[in-house]
Amino acid sequence: MARINDNYLKLKAGYLFPEISRRVGEFSRRNPEAKLIRLGIGDVTRPLVPAVVEAFHQGVEEMARAETFHGYGPEQGYPWLAEVIAEKAYRPLGVELDISEIFISDGAKSDTAGILDIFDQANRVAICDPVYPVYNDTNVMAGRTGEPDENGHYQGLVYLPCTRENDFTPAIPEEKVDLIYLCYPNNPTGAVATKEQLAAWVDYATKNRAVILFDAAYEAFVTEPGIPRSIYEIEGAKKCAIEFRSFSKTAGFTGVRCGYTVVPKELIGTAGDGSEVSLNQMWNRRQCTKFNGVSYPVQKAAAAVYSDEGWLQVMEVIKYYLDNAKIIRKGLSAAGITCYGGTNAPYIWLLTPEGMKSWDFFDRLLAECHVVGTPGSGFGPAGEGYFRLSAFGDRENVEEAVDRIRSRWGN
Ligand code: MLT
Repeated sequence: MARINDNYLKLKAGYLFPEISRRVGEFSRRNPEAKLIRLGIGDVTRPLVPAVVEAFHQGVEEMARAETFHGYGPEQGYPWLAEVIAEKAYRPLGVELDISEIFISDGAKSDTAGILDIFDQANRVAICDPVYPVYNDTNVMAGRTGEPDENGHYQGLVYLPCTRENDFTPAIPEEKVDLIYLCYPNNPTGAVATKEQLAAWVDYATKNRAVILFDAAYEAFVTEPGIPRSIYEIEGAKKCAIEFRSFSKTAGFTGVRCGYTVVPKELIGTAGDGSEVSLNQMWNRRQCTKFNGVSYPVQKAAAAVYSDEGWLQVMEVIKYYLDNAKIIRKGLSAAGITCYGGTNAPYIWLLTPEGMKSWDFFDRLLAECHVVGTPGSGFGPAGEGYFRLSAFGDRENVEEAVDRIRSRWGN
């Protein structure tokens, strides 16, 4: 009989969002009349913008004619999309990238998971707590951990707590780690990092020859001037960081699937025999073997995000979500609920009323207000007592949800 990967048995029963869906499904079956408002998973609700839709259509039309048909594309993505990204997403930040450093993919989730392929098991890994569960769970699946302790922390990983006591800013580890996951603007807390804070991480990584895995999936939501949108805005970061970005939240691609990962050529890892190896070449090798690229029409649609027209349209949608975030934050704060985030991120991170446990608040919010959110403890033990609301809902629903919560918990 085939042996399974036992590491999967160490994981909690289900991934966070399917578990939420399961509970919500059960509630809906018992209460079919309840009008649920879903502010749980960070899934967008606004449609694709017109410039993107037009390019998507054109891509499909080209696929429909023999003379413009495309079969397999490059595993790394079409160069014209990488060129647009280098020019429009990075050059304005003062960051120069070669197109061979940009790998187009189906999104940041797959890449933050897949990147582990190119790193040795023995690496010591640091992640924040609370954290996007993919970073934690993929390391468990890869066998880099022992069993979880009674708090849910896995032996072998270094957890960096982010709570209101430290302004949701992880302290630089005192011990030596080799891989560090950072996500800014942060999911789930909505916190951002200043240039000085990121520079301290780059300094740590450089001194310890560590690699920062920087998830910038929410960079388009940064509103405050001076807050970095890319780790490469920090001097020296190209030598120590891989950056993941996504069109999902930037341009409504959660159901379309497109993102990209930047692996600079200057980034070097060490092999078992002590020799130095280019991580760019390794990721390229990995992608060529395990990935066949993103579909042509999707890449056409993604390139249109960076057209002048497309970018204006996309920015309007981002403003819409950020206005939702303001409505949630203002409404709940006025009701006496302590809220964080929501200014440079589409997530509001709140302290549960009456000091409730996160899942207890989830159940009560669902049962009493018919509103779905995400329990903070689902992102890690340090998220206990917190709760996340997503600002990706539509305006009417967001306003209604805030009214329902205020009338139930307002003081
Ligand atoms: C979230 O709600 O945290 C995100 O939607 C998850 C994701 O992007 O995979």
